[in-house]
Amino acid sequence: MIPNDRSLLLGVNVDHCATLRQARYRQHPLDHGNEVEPDCVTCALLSEAAGADGITMHLREDRRHVQESDVARARREIATRLNLEMAATPEMIQYALSLRPDSVCLVPESREEVTTEGGLDLQAQTSRIREVVVAMSEAGIQTSLFIDPDPRQIELAAELESPWIELHTGAYANAYYQEGRSAELARLVAGAERAKQLGLVVNAGHGINYQNITEVCTIPHLHELNIGHSIISRALMVGISQAVTEMKNHMLPTGSSASPAS
Ligand code: PXP
Repeated sequence: MIPNDRSLLLGVNVDHCATLRQARYRQHPLDHGNEVEPDCVTCALLSEAAGADGITMHLREDRRHVQESDVARARREIATRLNLEMAATPEMIQYALSLRPDSVCLVPESREEVTTEGGLDLQAQTSRIREVVVAMSEAGIQTSLFIDPDPRQIELAAELESPWIELHTGAYANAYYQEGRSAELARLVAGAERAKQLGLVVNAGHGINYQNITEVCTIPHLHELNIGHSIISRALMVGISQAVTEMKNHMLPTGSSASPAS
């Protein structure tokens, strides 16, 4: 299914809420769900109430933040779309097929990184990625590939028949206050144009914040932005409802504004 591109959607990534919980409650059983705070599923529900169009959770191999019980509760409780970020491993394919998220976003994973660093190298793992795309497609689950705005990676994503890609905005975000910013933005713009030509749905994410969001919104053909760290960080200061409403307002066409959360 190709979504229409009427308005830019916001997927809220709640991983860092779970990171905060794990910092205190790593050993605590999570059977009681939202009694252990901060609860990332409650965070997801509040985000939805404030206008989030979808929720993203990354179930990492080392389970350092989000746990399987969080993802299972989110699957039952959220009303929008659940996007499961995961590595392209046989274990995660089986997990996704039993969970049935609305979409999976394949990301590279390494135990050493603090958060996802760099996009997938589709050339190095073509057959493995193809296996996931086919398995998900047969189960009615959209696959998105998290890749750098590199023409070769974008072309490979199309060859692999992945319906969606997520352009990695991390290099642009890192360069935001430096000389390389306009070159990184130009790479994202060119990448989005190429992806659109190839019929891919174009999402973007990583390092998007309240400073760079306005410029990110100038990248053409964007369908959804996945944003985590800046919204969770801002929520610490202003509350999650306000954080999400503000982000939605930044993403609207000039002149209109989203209604505040009730
Ligand atoms: N998209 C992907 C594929 C990611 O791995 C992450 C980080 O978990 C994000 C988006 C969100 O990045 P950030 O937390 O910097 O907003």
